[in-house]
Amino acid sequence: MVELGVNIDHVATLRQARRTVEPDPVAAAVLAELGGADSITIHLREDRRHIQDRDVRVLAETLRAKFNFELSCAPEIVQIACSVRPEQATLVPEKRQEVTTEGGLDLRPRSPELRNAIATLRDSGISVSLFIDPDDQQVRIAKELGVDAVELHTGQYAEARGQEQLQELRRLEHASQLVNDMGLKLHAGHGLTYQNVRPLAAIPGMRELNIGHSIVSRAVLVGIKEAVREMKLLLNTP
Ligand code: PXP
Repeated sequence: MVELGVNIDHVATLRQARRTVEPDPVAAAVLAELGGADSITIHLREDRRHIQDRDVRVLAETLRAKFNFELSCAPEIVQIACSVRPEQATLVPEKRQEVTTEGGLDLRPRSPELRNAIATLRDSGISVSLFIDPDDQQVRIAKELGVDAVELHTGQYAEARGQEQLQELRRLEHASQLVNDMGLKLHAGHGLTYQNVRPLAAIPGMRELNIGHSIVSRAVLVGIKEAVREMKLLLNTP
């Protein structure tokens, strides 16, 4: 079975647009769990643009599903992850100006910062996944670094169309085969939607797909009719 990881960052994005208390990503996590989410993913960015430290603490205390903490190698954030001990940490590259995580980690420099982050997280009993492009060399280095899983970046697949999309799918299938052969757990995500997710779910050995924007977007649309109905009722109830 392929597990669904629901990324709730954009619930927090909406809250931070007003710097208020709603919508609360913790409430969204509870509802996502009721809907069948196998894990809940949040990315505590260094600039705190969406998820806040409080969210991390409350989620760590209340989640029933697996907690997947997405983070950069910044020691401050690694320390926060170690203090709340999620089941899984996914290391990602982080740039201040980007709208969202743009590419996978480049593991080739085998940087001390990356090695330290992996060691610190694993010493705290946290399973570590690396977000990488679907590239043989990156997969081999991930294995060498001693992590538990890799998450293949599906962004290029999601953006491509027609023949090009098929080629991107082949790239992902090829890298997935290598991930399986190397005995690493296989995850994937970024840009996945209700329209493009099925070929990814069909890849042999796929364990976890992490999806955020498309699910939160759909939640707004399927929920708006009921939300308006409730407000209208209030206006006209003495
Ligand atoms: N996986 C990783 C590592 C990510 O950084 C993101 C985006 O935060 C996602 C999955 C989810 O991407 P999307 O919001 O496009 O579904």
